[in-house]
Amino acid sequence: MEISENDLWILSYYRESELAGGLIMGRLARETDDDDLRVHLTEHCAEETLHAWLWTQTILKVGGTPRRVAETYQTRYYAEIGTPTSLLEILTLTQVFERRVIRHFRAHLKWPNTHPAVAETLQRMIEDEVGHISWVKDRLDRYEAEKGDGVVAETMRRFTEVDQRVYDAAMRYRDNPRELLDPSYRAAALARESAAPSDLTGDVRRIVAKSLGVSDETILETSSLRDLGVNSLDLVVLVMAIEERFRIEFDPSDLERLRTFGELARRVHELAGVR
Ligand SMILES: [Fe+2]
Ligand SMILES: [Fe+2]
Repeated sequence: MEISENDLWILSYYRESELAGGLIMGRLARETDDDDLRVHLTEHCAEETLHAWLWTQTILKVGGTPRRVAETYQTRYYAEIGTPTSLLEILTLTQVFERRVIRHFRAHLKWPNTHPAVAETLQRMIEDEVGHISWVKDRLDRYEAEKGDGVVAETMRRFTEVDQRVYDAAMRYRDNPRELLDPSYRAAALARESAAPSDLTGDVRRIVAKSLGVSDETILETSSLRDLGVNSLDLVVLVMAIEERFRIEFDPSDLERLRTFGELARRVHELAGVR
């Protein structure tokens, strides 16, 4: 049975989204101070990256090669809600994702002309993803028990609403995924976007303020990140949010070096400038 060009783009999208999920989990696993969380995050990272590998193998098996895609499932969410900037948001988003993925993979199994090798991989993924939901739910229940102010339920409600919108929008490309995923279709739009003048320091300040739950005005150039309440895991989540927003990558040494908000903002300017 032949695989269609459209299906190759869709499988490449699955592959890349699994990889994106695995990388986020791995990064958090390296930085967390919570020993129990470290175990779950490492396992989750291992499984999502394995899923990326299984999709890669499936693509090769049906006679294709994985395509480079312009966005992942995660990117769509970030465009709607901003990059998650706290552990609560990451866990909630993961929970909403995993539910969606399971439902979507079940639906994909029913699509006509699904290649048997693809169906087999879908089936395997569905089983693994159920396990992911249970550990994230345990952590969220514990968070709710500790904080007890409905913050988990509220975040869940907000992300579930966004999820429906994002999913509906992505599904509009089901029959022409290349329009969404082929980087060359989107290169022109991205070039325009990065040429537009922007208040970069203001953007960084808003991301920091949002992740700390404080107002923008409390963050001065000279404010120490530690005094603002940034612990090591928050800093990693924050750095990921900034990297995603500005399409930059910090050096590992930056995390040790940056002490104040001003230093952070100047480093973002530098990295965004040399891109
Ligand atoms: Fe997965
Ligand atoms: Fe998963």
